[in-house]
Amino acid sequence: MSNEALSNLLHEERTFPPSEDFAAAAVAKADLYDRAGTDRLGFWAEQADRLQWETRWDDVLDWRPPFAKWFVGGTLNVAVNCVDRHVAAGHGDKVALHWEGEPGDTRSLTYGELKDEVSRAANALTTLGIGAGDVVAIYLPMIPEAMVAMLACARIGAPHSVVFGGFSAGALASRIDDAKAKLVITADGGYRRGAASALKPAVDESLEMSEGKSVQNVLVVRRTEQDVAWTEGRDVWWHDVVGSASTEHTAQSFDAEHPLFILYTSGTTGKPKGILHTTGGYLTQVAYTFANVFDHKPETDVYWCTADIGWVTGHSYIVYGPLSNGATQVMYEGTPDTPHKARWWELVAKYGVTLLFTAPTAIRTFMKWGDELPAEHDLSSLRLLGSVGEPINPEAWIWYRRVIGGDRTPIVDTWWQTETGAIMISPLPGVTAAKPGSAMRPLPGIVADVVDDQAKPVPDGGGGYLVLSEPWPSMLRGIWGDDERYKETYWSRFPDLYFAGDGAKKDEDGDLWLLGRVDDVMLVSGHNISTTEVESALVSHPKVAEAAVVGATDPTTGQGIVAFVILRGDAAEAVADDAEAGEAVIQDLRGHVAKVLGPIAKPRQVLLVAELPKTRSGKIMRRLLRDVAEHREMGDVTTLADPTVMNLIGEGLDKGAKDEE
Ligand code: WT7
Repeated sequence: MSNEALSNLLHEERTFPPSEDFAAAAVAKADLYDRAGTDRLGFWAEQADRLQWETRWDDVLDWRPPFAKWFVGGTLNVAVNCVDRHVAAGHGDKVALHWEGEPGDTRSLTYGELKDEVSRAANALTTLGIGAGDVVAIYLPMIPEAMVAMLACARIGAPHSVVFGGFSAGALASRIDDAKAKLVITADGGYRRGAASALKPAVDESLEMSEGKSVQNVLVVRRTEQDVAWTEGRDVWWHDVVGSASTEHTAQSFDAEHPLFILYTSGTTGKPKGILHTTGGYLTQVAYTFANVFDHKPETDVYWCTADIGWVTGHSYIVYGPLSNGATQVMYEGTPDTPHKARWWELVAKYGVTLLFTAPTAIRTFMKWGDELPAEHDLSSLRLLGSVGEPINPEAWIWYRRVIGGDRTPIVDTWWQTETGAIMISPLPGVTAAKPGSAMRPLPGIVADVVDDQAKPVPDGGGGYLVLSEPWPSMLRGIWGDDERYKETYWSRFPDLYFAGDGAKKDEDGDLWLLGRVDDVMLVSGHNISTTEVESALVSHPKVAEAAVVGATDPTTGQGIVAFVILRGDAAEAVADDAEAGEAVIQDLRGHVAKVLGPIAKPRQVLLVAELPKTRSGKIMRRLLRDVAEHREMGDVTTLADPTVMNLIGEGLDKGAKDEE
């Protein structure tokens, strides 16, 4: 695509420098960039000193590309760092967790109570024959036991493999087999959308499907009190074995490179990859980023990350980042619309949440639901907002800041991946300015760039591939059991550079704009156009709540741009039973994109739809939309959050306008 057309979108006039008050009190200081720039490894060693080590490391980094070891020779215990040391420092009565069940039941856990629970669970795991190096699969709803189970595993050096509770028995079975898990920790069920939803049957089914038969026991938390099938000798109740265990547990330290967890990423294609993270470097970077990116003040902040614990965001920014910093946080079991669509805002007011971390897909959903719902609640406690998971379009960014942040909160758009383990690119609140839609700069200690086909850095104003040029402490150490795939997937595109799979642009100031996966770039009449850019242009139209764009094979242009659009409340009602009005909106939107991005980016086709197909982590499954746009039989839909949406979209397609001009 012509750079001239695109610069319209990238020419973001609005910048939000830190306010003087915020900057004066900020955790992050401007000299971080200099310190990291002058002596990068020395900088990371300073960050590692946030933790309590039993044995100090000999070397900060041993780098044999693409295999890294950080803090070589150091030993520590992750659970002690996340829990015990805060109790030892006199914070045993501080609340670690305000937990809210979907039905409205609540629990709170102080650091002292969390230490007892984690110690009990660690003892129970040992009794069940789990030792250092044994893999434990965790398949739980968003209940405190999920956090306790992860920490108990960490405490005894048993790598956990958390499988998101929404995944099917088949997905669970393949993950159990790949890692040869010895134990599964699950629950009878959890609450979602106002009803108890069973989990244990999926575990039973997965163990029947499992080929390796590595699992010896299933540890079951009672949450919903549903009836569960029981396999004597294999299944044990959490309240029995953990409940009766001692709260005394002496933690042993592990090597800095001891495996901490495996987390499978499916992405939108391919066989899931078991991403391996280890102990010392991972904890260092999540602790450092949590403190600085969220400006965390342990005495006063109440933090809430709305992700599920089954995603990396839950691992790094519900469990290890916040707890290693002694944070107080909120955890919520259910969906945002239960029992009403203002549940989140009610919780922010109830707990006085100061730091909120969520995803653009949620923000756009709330935009669609309207400004009135957040306005019903007192959100004045909020002082910083975060975003992660996909590019946040400027419209959603501005809405987030205005409606949720009362036009006063900084926003941190954080770019990272399951593979990077921790935040890599983000504004530094109190130090750097933010621009709506840009993740800005690599954090101090991180080296990233945008390169062209030949691995040459692009100049300011140019676009290309996002790469990480130096190893970082929380980087993945490999793909579980498959070093070749690790090299091939991340290190083969460009020599000695980690290729993240994302496209990005540098604007005239050198700030970074993430453009989504490079697989999502369309080739229209010889021009590269990113789906993100067209989506962003569509969402900048006042009638549009959400948009997903795909390239469909086109006989004349190579690929044609097909847009699936959800209109905002009023606009959607206005066209509901009025085909003519719908057609007028469609033409208006096509013209709007042409105006913002240039005629080359004008969608061939715009379809008004009620929903979009998303994975359970909120990523749009463009692959399925491409199937629809190219009139193909639909591919695998098992990772869809709501499998029925594709039927709705298929029906919509027949009614959609087509215009080949
Ligand atoms: C992919 C990683 C990182 C935790 C949640 C997702 C996209 C993530 C951003 C952002 C633009 C983003 C990228 C990345 N992504 N954050 N702030 N701006 N894109 O983890 O499932 O491993 O996905 O999410 O495409 O590669 P994940």
